[in-house]
Amino acid sequence: MKTLYFTATGNSLSIAKSFGGEHYSIPQMIKEGTYDFTDMKIGIVFPIYGLSVPPYVIEFLTKATFNCDYLFAIMTYGMYDGASTNHLLTIARQTGKNFNYINTIKMVDTWLPRFEMKKQIDTAPKKQIEKHLASIVSDINDSKKWIQKDTMVDKLITNKFLKAAKQASYKEVLGSYIIGQGIETFFTVEDSCNQCGTCSKVCPVNNVRLDHGKVQYGDQCIGCLACTQNCPQNAIRLNGEKSKIRFRNPNIALKEIIEANN
Ligand SMILES: Cc1cc2nc3c(=O)[nH]c(=O)nc-3n(C[C@H](O)[C@H](O)[C@H](O)COP(=O)(O)O)c2cc1C
Repeated sequence: MKTLYFTATGNSLSIAKSFGGEHYSIPQMIKEGTYDFTDMKIGIVFPIYGLSVPPYVIEFLTKATFNCDYLFAIMTYGMYDGASTNHLLTIARQTGKNFNYINTIKMVDTWLPRFEMKKQIDTAPKKQIEKHLASIVSDINDSKKWIQKDTMVDKLITNKFLKAAKQASYKEVLGSYIIGQGIETFFTVEDSCNQCGTCSKVCPVNNVRLDHGKVQYGDQCIGCLACTQNCPQNAIRLNGEKSKIRFRNPNIALKEIIEANN
């Protein structure tokens, strides 16, 4: 089995690792130009952004080919998964993929402008992540064929949300979601930065660099917040963040995020 994953704070990597087999980082595959995968079972694990499949993952799926008998997708999220399954099925149709199994798993929500990380971390046990994960792992081991169903209400909420997000500025939808509309201008780096370069190493799209000892953001930010959440000095602030507390999945080391995204 091969599992491909995209992660900023380790939730999706922790899920990918629980399936055993081999796991591969999508950013690494993109950097290598590896898009063809063959195995009996192939899976893809990634976070939901804005009730949808992140554009970065869509781009990967557009180029990737999966030669397998069983294809599965697990989407991690923190609060509400909207009509993300429906979105993934649309992408699958457009890119010639045939998923046998699609599920979502609720974990800590990492979207700093909306959620306070301490509260997220403290309330994580209520989400019963281990229990849900055990059931998903058992499904995958059994090659179960099952696609999560989005309700009509999920579809209505998601459509309304996406319409509003499209029309709004980053500031207006700060509490929700936005990508690629100048988000890089909303980061500030405090004096406690010791130029360790971790922000640059965890950025999956090489959008952060150290220039003469100063952290500089390019304009390709995908909003994953890997730089902000993983800064060892906690020196990166995002405008509108609910607090200064940061999160990385407790089962994942910083080294693993660097290996995945650098
Ligand atoms: C840009 C962005 C948008 C997000 N949008 C949603 C969302 O719409 N619904 C939700 O429940 N969680 C949302 N989240 C939370 C993540 O999906 C969730 O925390 C995920 O498990 C993070 O995975 P990772 O640790 O592998 O990066 C968002 C997070 C980010 C950074």
